[in-house]
Amino acid sequence: MHSAFIVAALVAAVAVAQDPAPGWLAYATAQCPAGTRITHMEAKWTVGQDPPQSFAFFSPWFGIDTSDNLNLLQPVNPWLGTAWAMYTEYYQWSPSHNKNSQQHSVNAGDQLHGQITFNGESEQSYTLIQTDVTTGQSSQMVIPVQRGSDGLHKNYTIQYIVYEKVAQCNQYPPDQKVVFSDIQVLCNGVAIQPAWTSGVVDSVCDFKATAISPSEVEITWNTEGVPPTKEMLERAGAGSSKNFRADNVAAWRELKKSRQGKN
Ligand SMILES: *[C@@H]1O[C@H](CO)[C@@H](O)[C@H](O)[C@H]1NC(C)=O
Repeated sequence: MHSAFIVAALVAAVAVAQDPAPGWLAYATAQCPAGTRITHMEAKWTVGQDPPQSFAFFSPWFGIDTSDNLNLLQPVNPWLGTAWAMYTEYYQWSPSHNKNSQQHSVNAGDQLHGQITFNGESEQSYTLIQTDVTTGQSSQMVIPVQRGSDGLHKNYTIQYIVYEKVAQCNQYPPDQKVVFSDIQVLCNGVAIQPAWTSGVVDSVCDFKATAISPSEVEITWNTEGVPPTKEMLERAGAGSSKNFRADNVAAWRELKKSRQGKN
């Protein structure tokens, strides 16, 4: 009976789960005009100053989602506890599926350039590229567009700029700010001026997203701000929302491998 209850609870949790998900802190979001889909999105940002070493795992990123908020494509830039990394990621809520491109180490102050491009009606896929402009290294992958329950390919229509994962305030980067610049969004091949609105899922450490202009969004925080609750920290530790935590383990393995390769 106990386990039946747990299964029912899990099914219920999965049924309502979608983006913006628990663990997202501040974010900005915008949409394509009705009836159109995202054909390209790109943005640049600078890797933050090194935070103190910890077991925390968090990342600034931008991405695009299908109109049902169940398919997320994102160039990411996680802090792995002792080092920064970059790669691209796909997270599909149903059935749950996660894919990452090859991970590379990046350094504080490096400039990142993420790009997501639709490969056309006949291909029905997106190419994701994350480039460290400072070192020239890049990571990419191609992700097919999932079909909806009606059998038709879904449309990616929603843009996001996000800081994700709860940690203690003093575990975040000391610069207390990341600026996403040169943001470009094309819907059906036409450049739009995204009308950003801001939101917060988990309210911690005064995280806030502010649109400076259609092409520039900054996310700020306070390393001495209002700390997360115990529940939020536990949830971040258990990785109950999406499997960014599993990513963390995979990311660690990759990092170790690349370091061993260098020794
Ligand atoms: C998806 O986007 C295409 C291209 O703009 C459009 O023709 C189609 O109607 C859209 N589908 C839905 C369900 O909105």
